Amino acid sequence: MFANPVVVDRSAPRKSSAFGDAHRRESILPALIGEIANGSPRTGSDLAKTLGVTRAAVWKQIEGLREHGLDIVALPGRGYRLGAPIDLLDAATILATMTPAARSRLAAVDVHWELDSTSSELLRQAASDPRDGAVCLAEIQTRGRGRRGRVWHTPVAGGIAMSLLKRFELGMASIAGLSLVVGIAVAQALDDVGIAGVGLKWPNDVMATGAKLAGILVELGGDALGPCHAVIGIGINSRLGAMAAASIDQPWTDLATLAPGVPPSRNLVVARVLERLVEALDRFGAEGFAPFAAEYMQRDVLRGCRVSVLRADGCAEGIARGIDVRGALLIAFDDGERAVDSGEVSIRGVA
Ligand code: BTN
Repeated sequence: MFANPVVVDRSAPRKSSAFGDAHRRESILPALIGEIANGSPRTGSDLAKTLGVTRAAVWKQIEGLREHGLDIVALPGRGYRLGAPIDLLDAATILATMTPAARSRLAAVDVHWELDSTSSELLRQAASDPRDGAVCLAEIQTRGRGRRGRVWHTPVAGGIAMSLLKRFELGMASIAGLSLVVGIAVAQALDDVGIAGVGLKWPNDVMATGAKLAGILVELGGDALGPCHAVIGIGINSRLGAMAAASIDQPWTDLATLAPGVPPSRNLVVARVLERLVEALDRFGAEGFAPFAAEYMQRDVLRGCRVSVLRADGCAEGIARGIDVRGALLIAFDDGERAVDSGEVSIRGVA
């Protein structure tokens, strides 16, 4: 591990942009958001002058940002203002906010303006160089992935999309329960920034007020029986906005709803998640899942609920009864209690 993780800020967008092909248009985008991020109104001509482009170019970019779900208010005679201030992700700020011990566990923090998916990026890198503690973040994901092949939406500055690569030496069987441990770390981090009552819905949805606040996707690579790595992808809803929310097919919530007024800064949330995560991963690597079981049970929102389990042989209903020592879900079926793994089942309804 490194005392000073490499900070990479690739926040200038790449050519393949969600905002079209006009390169000049793309290159002013992060700067434009930076100019209006604090929520104060700015006129089109002022922005054009500051950014060195025409007013028409500014207008086009503003429209592009609106299409991507950013709430930008036009004030007659006073210009443009964000509906709510935003803080852009910044690697140096994230690292400066972390404890030195946690920081020393990271290899690099890489902030991109736009990627297909932060997890896909780390998986690509891992093919040649799986760096333990590499972190990747993006403001925009054009192909964000959720569990079971679902799409994960990351509106511009309205979500947190982050992935971390963790190496394990003893093969994939040794990391059963990892995704539950990540869920616990995320829940603790959200507690740390003042979000109360965060629960976990097996295997690893992060819930608050009965709705999904964050999701976790763990993908494995390497040797099934030897050195392997996990790319841990975490998506947290920060301020979703009506457009992104319309495309989500389950009850959702976000930090802005849970902490009205001034929601926690995204950089602070990322810093706390990384702190909790590296601590939990070290413990998990040394002691396995057992020390986490009690905390999982405390946060388990499925316990006692009727669940419908989709299995290869059809659908079966039962009552969730917590987890076993490996992190498998215990379900009381009519014909007895059984442990089910996330690979086998899809939890459907909760009553
Ligand atoms: C789920 O609940 O379905 C899991 C969602 C995981 C989303 C995160 S966002 C960062 C990382 N990159 C991705 O493409 N997916 C994960």
